[in-house]
Amino acid sequence: MDKIVELKSVSKNFGKGFSLDSISFSIGRGEIVGYLGPNGAGKTTTIKLLMNALRKDSGSISFMGKNIEKDETLFRKHIGYMPENGTPFEFLTAREYLEFVSGAYGIDKKKIRGKIDELLSIFSLTEEKKSVRTFSKGMKQKLLFLSAIIHNPDLLILDEPFNAIEPQTAMLMKNLIYEMKQDGKAVIFSSHVLEIVEKLADKVILLNNGKIVGEGFVSSLKSRGGLDGFFRELIDSSNIDENTVKIIQTIKS
Ligand SMILES: Nc1ncnc2c1ncn2[C@@H]1O[C@H](COP(=O)(O)OP(=O)(O)OP(=O)(O)O)[C@@H](O)[C@H]1O
Ligand SMILES: [Mg+2]
Repeated sequence: MDKIVELKSVSKNFGKGFSLDSISFSIGRGEIVGYLGPNGAGKTTTIKLLMNALRKDSGSISFMGKNIEKDETLFRKHIGYMPENGTPFEFLTAREYLEFVSGAYGIDKKKIRGKIDELLSIFSLTEEKKSVRTFSKGMKQKLLFLSAIIHNPDLLILDEPFNAIEPQTAMLMKNLIYEMKQDGKAVIFSSHVLEIVEKLADKVILLNNGKIVGEGFVSSLKSRGGLDGFFRELIDSSNIDENTVKIIQTIKS
């Protein structure tokens, strides 16, 4: 398979606490990868390393066969990134933010104006004079998604993209992600919503305590009780019923 991105034994140690331990995987053209794991498993850390927003301690990351640390421009033009939290420039309007992001991707300002209008209108974000600071959580998420796709990237990296998104826009985003896959692009997204991952992803990677504990094609997980069964098999979920009883007793006492 034609690999778009490849991580080989990537590690990151945050001192005493957490470390991401020798992560290796690749994403091919036309492939959607779901990146799963409990809170604090290391999903966002991996994504930041992939984005070169965090320095790895060891290992290698290549994008279209090139080292991401050595070719920032190529990398920026071809990768779309949606962070898990809001935009860093909330004093801008949605339009100004997309113009700024497009500029960073090297897109001509004159060429982008019409596109921005169209995208903002479809995503119901045309509140001209409002700064992003005043946006609801979901509106910010929608804007972050648009800023990840506006330059038609070859690799889309989405950190919990559906978080806070209204159903009709989530459906639209899922369609868009699927179309991008059909177009030969590669997508990795983290999510806690197993139903979405099961429907959208070709392959899943399950992370726990900074290590990959499971990997597989969604189509081959049916015999393991689907994605739900796969998750429960590899991540201890045995005490859910017991904890439910404990909490009910605690809050009632
Ligand atoms: N800059 C940092 N310095 C120290 N520790 C960090 C730093 N960033 C993340 N961590 C730690 O790394 C671990 C993994 O965090 P990360 O954000 O990658 O988890 P996650 O899988 O994305 O979780 P969530 O599902 O909650 O988003 C956590 O224990 C977190 O406290
Ligand atoms: Mg995260």
